[in-house]
Order: sequence, then C-alpha cells, then structure tokens
Amino acid sequence: MIPLVFIQADADGEPYSTNGAAAERGFRSLGYETRRFLREEIDSLPLVPENIVVGGMGCLHAVWERLGVRVPVHFSAPAVLAPFLGRESWRTTQAELLGADRFPVFVKPYEDSKLFNGQVVRGAEELTILLEPRPGFPAVAADVPLLAQEPVNFDTEWRVFVLRGRAVGIAHYRGDLLIFPAGGLIRAVLGAYASAPAGYSADFGVTDTGRTLLVETNDGYALGYMGIAEARYAELLRARWEEITGT
Ligand SMILES: Nc1ncnc2c1ncn2[C@@H]1O[C@H](COP(=O)(O)OP(=O)(O)OP(=O)(O)O)[C@@H](O)[C@H]1O
Ligand SMILES: [Mg+2]
Repeated sequence: MIPLVFIQADADGEPYSTNGAAAERGFRSLGYETRRFLREEIDSLPLVPENIVVGGMGCLHAVWERLGVRVPVHFSAPAVLAPFLGRESWRTTQAELLGADRFPVFVKPYEDSKLFNGQVVRGAEELTILLEPRPGFPAVAADVPLLAQEPVNFDTEWRVFVLRGRAVGIAHYRGDLLIFPAGGLIRAVLGAYASAPAGYSADFGVTDTGRTLLVETNDGYALGYMGIAEARYAELLRARWEEITGT
C-alpha cells in the first residue's frame, strides 16, 4: 500500500488554510500522493496509521479518536527547560493568585491552551475578567491549573521548528525583525529537551535587557508553517504523526 496524505479542505475544495496548502506542496515534493477531504468526510476516509492526515486541531483530534490513539498532553515549558525561561515560573490557580495579590503577573493555562491566550494581567480585576466566560471560549473554573510567570518584556520573538532534535526552520513572529536570539541558547534548549516530541516548535524572545529566553514550546502536529521550507514542514508533520500513531 502506498501511503496517502489527506489534506483537510474547505467547502471550495481548497486546502483549509495556507498551512494545509504548504503541507500539500511539501508532501508532494517528498513524493507522496495527496488527497483533499472535507471535515464531514472523516468517517468515510480510509484512516489507518500509515496514511497521514493534515488538518486543524479539532479535525486531528477526531481522526485520532477514530484511530484509537491518545495524544499526550504537551507542556509548553517542561521542567527540564525551566533554566532557560530566565524568569520565575510556577503552577498556580486563580484563587491562589488572587489570595497572593501578586501583580502584574503573566498567566496562561497550565494544560489546556484553548482556554485563553497567555498574557500579563495587572490586577485582580483584570484576572477575573480574563477568566470569565466569553463567547467562543469555555468557562474557566476557579481551580483550573494556571502557569504564572514573572513578567518580562520581549523586544522580538522567533519560532524555531525542530525535527528530531535539529532546527530545520526559523520564523520571526513578533517585535523587531532585526534583533536575533542567541544561537547558543537555542542549541542548549534543543539539547536539553531529551523528552521532546519528534516534531515541535520552540519560541525564543530577546528581552529589553538583551537576554535570549525560551518563550514556550508547542507540539508539532498542528503548527502553522510560517514560511519555512515546505518539505521541512511536511517532514516535521510526518515525524510527529508517526510518533503519535506509533508507525
Ligand atoms: N513571562 C512573560 N512576561 C510577559 N510576556 C510574556 C511572558 N511569557 C510570554 N509572554 C508574551 O506572551 C505571548 C504569549 O505567550 P505564550 O505563547 O507562552 O502563550 P500562549 O497561550 O501560547 O499564547 P499565544 O497563543 O499568543 O502563543 C508571548 O508570545 C510573549 O509575547
Ligand atoms: Mg503560544
């Protein structure tokens, strides 16, 4: 059987996003046959671990459920990477933060990144508003584990794409395009992250005091491609797909 790559498409039959389009070209350049599918067609696709699926987060979770595979929770800053954060970082809850009255503080969900985006909150009121139910977002319970960090100011941020421990792409995503993170620190992070997924991204920022720090890491299965070489992007998605499905 020749493995296929299924690319999620929208109602017009086009890849669901620029990421899907880049992955499609990338996989074709690696010699794969690709087929587009609509989200509604998931149940009729020949889903086997050997056939790679490229799609949005929700779509992939539905696919893995059908395949009976469990996706491990990804921690954006696992303990081995704590030394590279360069700022205090701890697990907490809304109740605890309110009790400690320690503001400003950077907060993000400890596990479920869909709950809200990480940001600096300046006081109790701002924290309460952030965690209130909003349209399109699930309500955040008072005891949901949060990741809190001492605030820092990043002048620039870059995303490094990592395939089996090696950097295969880098993209600027925020701040000053002409400030570059220190390569030595990036290398040290990739080297220290022994338990890393086969494909992931590591974000690095340079602070207003000139320090290169790890911002966070993200699992590789649903990363945007951000203009990196399309074949490398496809290889990264493939590596993580194979790891998750055990192929
Ligand atoms: N300790 C911090 N202090 C101040 N700002 C921070 C801190 N950590 C991260 N940031 C800023 O907040 C942004 C979001 O942080 P992070 O990526 O960790 O959270 P996220 O929930 O994944 O959000 P996003 O979806 O925006 O990536 C970072 O890109 C960075 O600009
Ligand atoms: Mg992020």
